[in-house]
Amino acid sequence: MTTSLNINGKSYDVTADPETPLLWVLRDELLLTGTKYGCGIAQCGACTVHVDGVAVRSCQTPVSALAGGKVTTIEGLGGTHPLQTAWVKHDVPQCGYCQSGQIMSAAALLAAKPAPTDDDIDSAMTGNICRCGTYQRIRAAIKDVAGAKAPVHGDVA
Ligand code: FES
Ligand code: FES
Repeated sequence: MTTSLNINGKSYDVTADPETPLLWVLRDELLLTGTKYGCGIAQCGACTVHVDGVAVRSCQTPVSALAGGKVTTIEGLGGTHPLQTAWVKHDVPQCGYCQSGQIMSAAALLAAKPAPTDDDIDSAMTGNICRCGTYQRIRAAIKDVAGAKAPVHGDVA
């Protein structure tokens, strides 16, 4: 079956079984490998992308559910999103594996709530697991972009 997908502003006709998870279309068909495979069961957040601006787990999103929807991946942020700048400033990534998913969840949060509370951040980011434990830096970077001017890692108080 052929499905027309809009990904990062470009149209693609993808031939795949309707139940094929978006994650595998992105990575294997379109070579958009910034979106990562972690668990495959919607438990880690490594595969997070946006569908119509909402953060979704691409490992559990069949391509058949996406006709007419607009998908944005980490590549679609272009490397210039304020969160990406803040991620560098706050030295967030360690191994890096979870980070595209973290940024996509944070980007959806800030698009919906430009000035999130701590509870908002916790709620939006709780499903994104980081085995390297970068949670405090992630929070600082999000708050920085939100205007809270969180201290940079390593700064002396
Ligand atoms: S790979 Fe999709 S949530 Fe873990
Ligand atoms: S930076 Fe290593 S898993 Fe998050």
